[in-house]
Amino acid sequence: MKQLVVTRQLPGGLPDELARRKPWVWDGDEPIPASVLQKSVGRCVGLLTMLTDQITAEVLEAAPKLKVISQMAVGVDNIDVSACEERGIAIGHTPDVLTETTADSAFALLAAAVRRIPEGMDQVRSGGWGTWRPDNLIGGDLHGSTLGIVGLGRIGRALAARASGFGMKLLYTGPSRKPHYEASLSIAYRSLQELLEQADHVVLTASLNLSSERLIDEAALRSMRSDATLVNVARGGLVDHDALVAALSGGWIARAALDVTDPEPLPASHPLVALPNCLVVPHIGSASVATRTAMAALAVENLLAGVDGKKLPAALPQSIPLG
Ligand code: DGY
Repeated sequence: MKQLVVTRQLPGGLPDELARRKPWVWDGDEPIPASVLQKSVGRCVGLLTMLTDQITAEVLEAAPKLKVISQMAVGVDNIDVSACEERGIAIGHTPDVLTETTADSAFALLAAAVRRIPEGMDQVRSGGWGTWRPDNLIGGDLHGSTLGIVGLGRIGRALAARASGFGMKLLYTGPSRKPHYEASLSIAYRSLQELLEQADHVVLTASLNLSSERLIDEAALRSMRSDATLVNVARGGLVDHDALVAALSGGWIARAALDVTDPEPLPASHPLVALPNCLVVPHIGSASVATRTAMAALAVENLLAGVDGKKLPAALPQSIPLG
């Protein structure tokens, strides 16, 4: 049993400053099984985790010496944060470094879904292109449309900046108004209900917590426009997936694009996967080489700072918006 435990191989390998301290690294292709994790943390002081690890009260119970958990992600909904607070365990995460890449992904998913790019590729691959047809794969527009952002955190704001470059009108909702950004981003506040009714495209960038769980349920989906797009780059738990299947197959909304699902991985047999108007990708919002490298580096810095009793460069604040 080691003092430092890392639950996955890091992109680019272990940085020297961590390798020197000889951590134990889980080298499986799948997330570390809960039973193995619990057995590995008996003497652990610093634990570097992934969003696929469930850091429960039981895991913490098995780790009486733990001083810091450093998550290689900005979202920490897989960690029992209040149990960590009770035990005085610091939590680090990786905000900022992934903001722009994740906003790029959100915009890419939005554009791909609205302009029906994956369906176009499917048509070409299957030999179904045929002749040019005036009605083939007609989609929506980005320019001139209204984008509704649910959660105006870092990623939401970076998305807003991209969308205004495309001539989109901007709305946002969240637990509180952000007057400063309303002026600087030319974005208007709406209640969730108003935003769902008014936006052509709704993008979820909010963090997952008790008040946002299943925020987009049947009633929310029924409130959206029938030509609307729903994009989720935050956490799958924000959306009721059974209701989403009904919404997409029943024409309550036009299309969805999901970087995140509940569960993950989404089984290939899940009804959402078969729907032509649903684009699903495997939680790759921050997956650029530079960003994943930066996330790993920040996670290591947080880990070592916590182990050495120093201030974490990116400690989890009391309540964290995703991004
Ligand atoms: C995060 O950091 O929370 C993202 O979901 C990882 O891409």
